[in-house]
Amino acid sequence: MTTLRLAIVGAGPAGIYAADILRKAERRFDVSIDLFERLPAPYGLVRYGVAPDHPRIKGIVNALRDVLDAHTVRLFGNVDFGTDITLDDLKRHYHAVIFSTGSFFDAPLAIPGIDLAGSHGAAEFVNWYDGHPDVPREWPLDAASVAVIGNGNVALDVARMLSKHADDLLPTEIPDNVYRGLAASPVTDVHVFGRRGPAQVKFSPLELRELGEMRDVDMILDDEDFDYDEASKTAIATNKQILVIDRVLQQWRQRPVGQAGRRLHLHFYAAPTEVLGEGGRVTGIRYERTEPDGAGGVRGTGEFREVGVQALYRAVGYFGSVLPGVPFDEKRGVIPNREGQVIGDDDQKVPGVYATGWIKRGPVGLIGHTKSDAMETVSHLINDQASWWSPADPSEQAIPALLAARGVEFTTLDGWHNLDAYEIGLGEPRGRARVKVVERDEMLRASQRSRPAAG
Ligand SMILES: Cc1cc2nc3c(=O)[nH]c(=O)nc-3n(C[C@H](O)[C@H](O)[C@H](O)COP(=O)(O)OP(=O)(O)OC[C@H]3O[C@@H](n4cnc5c(N)ncnc54)[C@H](O)[C@@H]3O)c2cc1C
Ligand SMILES: NC(=O)c1ccc[n+]([C@@H]2O[C@H](COP(=O)([O-])OP(=O)(O)OC[C@H]3O[C@@H](n4cnc5c(N)ncnc54)[C@H](OP(=O)(O)O)[C@@H]3O)[C@@H](O)[C@H]2O)c1
Repeated sequence: MTTLRLAIVGAGPAGIYAADILRKAERRFDVSIDLFERLPAPYGLVRYGVAPDHPRIKGIVNALRDVLDAHTVRLFGNVDFGTDITLDDLKRHYHAVIFSTGSFFDAPLAIPGIDLAGSHGAAEFVNWYDGHPDVPREWPLDAASVAVIGNGNVALDVARMLSKHADDLLPTEIPDNVYRGLAASPVTDVHVFGRRGPAQVKFSPLELRELGEMRDVDMILDDEDFDYDEASKTAIATNKQILVIDRVLQQWRQRPVGQAGRRLHLHFYAAPTEVLGEGGRVTGIRYERTEPDGAGGVRGTGEFREVGVQALYRAVGYFGSVLPGVPFDEKRGVIPNREGQVIGDDDQKVPGVYATGWIKRGPVGLIGHTKSDAMETVSHLINDQASWWSPADPSEQAIPALLAARGVEFTTLDGWHNLDAYEIGLGEPRGRARVKVVERDEMLRASQRSRPAAG
């Protein structure tokens, strides 16, 4: 029977689900899968995106871990595709590759002043509070008033992490430097700006409700945002999510405010037009008041308003990154593909190359969605046998030997288990489930205790 040697690049949920689905798929051939991950830890945005105060979602790692622990996939951590291993290497050693590299960077927001000091991308802040090894350890939390642009779940995560008292995050896995940074924050007011109305938001009811449950934080809403047009009324009447969102907001409108030490302001119909600055630093945000256009969208009213803030976060979406040798859609930030089969400039399928997850579909959707993504991609891979590569050396030993010869300090599944146990051990004496290790060197040291010899 043929053995399919498959490389998967990116050990987030999309890559891990793809491995699992392929392993369980109908068996016309044997499967041998190597999963490459540029970080010493797997799980992608589940570890480095999902907020630390969402332990239930973080718990998805248990299901992902079961897939890795089935030992039908080899994990090569700390291996960056494009630097440590290339497409030519993969063609020499595998029949095909699935890219599941997700999205790491913030989408741009082209308004004047966006590059001022104090203006940040939400992804940068998320990476900091979730302890990503490749971002600086210190975060400038020196603003009393902060703006967050966007009405998606990332905007709510960022607004919540900025507003919440640091001590209320102590039971979570937040790294020590993050606790210290948040504990010293002088923030009093967080302003969230959505360019459309309450019935057109992208965030979900659960995430919204959580904002109102924060200790010592008042929710501030403006009556003028609730004069609903017909399209909004229809959305509330026909869409259960929007109905619940409206209920939550209406409850907050009735709540007494004025006692809390911090305030979270939700501004709707507010399209940011400029980040204001002085001496190169953010001093405020200017936005245009919008109004419903009758069809679920909005139009500008020509009325501009300003709010003074000393820091600003744009949470207007993530964006994928180019992978050397792999087609890339610069506009959408994805690998161009048809149902996961990668498409070249000539609009033809690129043999042997597949994509899944956010890098296939764009940075929208929940963890569960990456499962259906993976199913679609894997079904094409299985049926495309005629267009697989013909590797010169498909042996399993070739890869650890190649990485070792290049001096790549790769980690393995055992290494991840070591790091995992180390982090849990750091949390134990303090009554915490885990304390995340942030420095890459320390991650590698903790991983390497039982690293097997190469080759
Ligand atoms: C801030 C934030 C919070 C979220 N919270 C939730 C939530 O609470 N619930 C929910 O259901 N969904 C949530 N999501 C959505 C969820 O995270 C995504 O749906 C999911 O992670 C996408 O999976 P993925 O595998 O495609 O990408 P990722 O999770 O991004 O995984 C990609 C992996 O590829 C690796 N990689 C990238 N480039 C390379 C390379 N060159 N070489 C090797 N490896 C590489 C990365 O390091 C990463 O590990 C959140 C998203 C964000 C941004
Ligand atoms: N707890 C969770 O379940 C959780 C947490 C985080 C993320 N996620 C998921 O991860 C995915 C990504 O989330 P996300 O928040 O990054 O993206 P998103 O849901 O697409 O939201 C992006 C937001 O940015 C706004 N926006 C875009 N361009 C803008 C501009 N030029 N000016 C003003 N606003 C602009 C959008 O407004 P318009 O709608 O008007 O375009 C939208 O409100 C989502 O599917 C989300 O549900 C889930």
